[in-house]
Amino acid sequence: MKKVITYGTYDCLHYGHINLLRNARKLGDYLIVGITSEAFDQSRGKIDVRQSLVERIEAVRATGLADKIIVEEYEGQKIADIERYGVDIFTVGSDWEGKFDYLKKYCEVVYLPRTQGISSTEIRTMDNPVVRLGIVGEMTPSERFINECKAVSGIDVVGITGHDNSVTGAIADRTGISCFESRDALYDECDAVYIVDRIDFHNELITEALHRGKHVICEAPIFLRVEDAARCYDYAHEHGLVLFEGIKTRYFPGYKHLLLVAESGKIGRIKDVEVSFSQKLGDIDYSRRNKYQGSLYDLGGYIFLPVIQLLGRNIEDMHIYTSRQNDFDVFTKGIIKYPEALATFKAGLGVKTEGQLIITGTEGYIYVPAPWWKTDYFELRHEDLRDTRKYFWQYEGEGFRYEIVEFMKQINDISSGCDGQYTKEDSMAITDIIERFDNGEYSLF
Ligand code: CTP
Repeated sequence: MKKVITYGTYDCLHYGHINLLRNARKLGDYLIVGITSEAFDQSRGKIDVRQSLVERIEAVRATGLADKIIVEEYEGQKIADIERYGVDIFTVGSDWEGKFDYLKKYCEVVYLPRTQGISSTEIRTMDNPVVRLGIVGEMTPSERFINECKAVSGIDVVGITGHDNSVTGAIADRTGISCFESRDALYDECDAVYIVDRIDFHNELITEALHRGKHVICEAPIFLRVEDAARCYDYAHEHGLVLFEGIKTRYFPGYKHLLLVAESGKIGRIKDVEVSFSQKLGDIDYSRRNKYQGSLYDLGGYIFLPVIQLLGRNIEDMHIYTSRQNDFDVFTKGIIKYPEALATFKAGLGVKTEGQLIITGTEGYIYVPAPWWKTDYFELRHEDLRDTRKYFWQYEGEGFRYEIVEFMKQINDISSGCDGQYTKEDSMAITDIIERFDNGEYSLF
């Protein structure tokens, strides 16, 4: 019996896939189809697959062309599968020509002609019109964000506008997008905006964009006042718009996995979350710095994210200590008390400390080394060091592409019942802490 094996994602199964499977079957007597797991696709940068693994397996099964379906979970699995199942022929479409020649040591390799004019990528973009995105603001990380959009299908960055035309002009030149003189001109050309500005400008910019009918993604923390947040989220909801807090860490494959491990009971009950984020900013002229560029205003979105996600919103008490130069908080440290847990945090712009995240539990702890906000590695540790587990989750590029994919999903799903408020509850809780700080709930040192 001649055994044939083939692999693929098989997202939104189409006739190109079916032709491939049919032709693969004709090469032998028994066809094994390997379907990529979600984690494997993520790890190889295929981040906008629409269907779950189960849906994709069901679709391939329904063709009746596969004798056996297996899941492809890791790099290097193909060799193991070929040996394990005694495979005679490995085959894929001609778009992979040459890429699998290394398997010729193990079996025959056949590249079948690819069906022209159809692909999962095309189907994904056909169903959903391309979202035209405008960039509002020239602060970091606008340029990196624009470049990351190029890795996501279905989004087209049309241009940028900001406070300083010379800066936005330079960003536009480097990234190949247009520079607009005004927000009005930009709104005419786009469906959604990415706001990257100082926190005290956010409310006005978000309100304006929503009133112009635009979906909004805004760098965290997005609001200074809970009242503004509630009003904008309500408006977005009533008008079928997405209002989305941009915190790239939240969508990193490694960070998502970290939350699952933390909540799995492996470290027992969580007693403390300790989180730090600092940046040593060259020589800062504090007299020219605005209060709202300070450490907690700038970094609070990231710092409070794991706190809120792991410990919730039921804050009983909070003590914040802050060191200032003029109005600018250079270093801020705090303790947040929950009924049965604590969170301690450090934010610094103008100091340098270890940017780690430690989640302490009754049975063990999770340690994420600096920079934890770019989570790609963490350890699960117990009293006995031999019980340590190490987790590594690669992320692609600068990592913004994961939140961009999620933002796009929200926009595309809004017509089918999604309320576009995916980040609302966490974002309101983060706003609450920032507002209390802004209202003077701190001690100086
Ligand atoms: N395939 C094909 N003809 C097409 C599309 C895919 O023969 N028009 C083949 C691929 O070469 C591969 C298998 O089908 O052997 C599974 O491909 P997959 O990557 O899942 O599908 P694509 O449509 O290429 O997906 P994407 O656009 O996401 O890359």
